[in-house]
Amino acid sequence: MVGAPEKDPREEVIQAWYMDDSDEDQRLPHHREPKQFLSLEQLAELGVLSWRLDADNYETDEELKKIREERGYSYMDFCEVCPEKLPNYEEKIKNFFEEHLHTDEEIRYCVAGSGYFDVRDRNDQWIRVWVKKGGMIVLPAGIYHRFTLDSDNYIKAMRLFVGDPIWTPFNRPHDHLPARKEYLETFGKTQVGNHAVDAAA
Ligand SMILES: [Fe+2]
Repeated sequence: MVGAPEKDPREEVIQAWYMDDSDEDQRLPHHREPKQFLSLEQLAELGVLSWRLDADNYETDEELKKIREERGYSYMDFCEVCPEKLPNYEEKIKNFFEEHLHTDEEIRYCVAGSGYFDVRDRNDQWIRVWVKKGGMIVLPAGIYHRFTLDSDNYIKAMRLFVGDPIWTPFNRPHDHLPARKEYLETFGKTQVGNHAVDAAA
């Protein structure tokens, strides 16, 4: 297509930016100065997939049904994170924010509230992925990441999984795990895209 690109509708509910390195409250946005956003295509190059779905009608949503069928997401439950509903809230929030990986995908569909999923890029920089109501993301197996609520202090997320869920976090470093090696094999190198074109120019 020629002309100005249309705005990606997903970006109304999912935004990604590079984080600053201040150790202020983890619930703050932590933008760099100036702000440095990433496109959802750039996230996809790291293996992070994203959709925008109709969160008010997740029970009957055909698009969600199709994604679940195509990707084999047979398991589903909900996780609500806020001070009133989560026992040992402060401790849990700290644990979620420990950098870790999983041996399977982490699939989260925000049906209410919002939160930050931080992922590492290829140069070990933190990318903050803000997911709001209607945003669904898949973090690939083996990517180092962490989670925090934002300053609104509330998220209700649908958790999906292929088969019986395994939520085990492996805190960094766990570079010897096959899932980590496979992640680096698949997504650790610069993909064919703008960067490769720039390098060849
Ligand atoms: Fe995780």
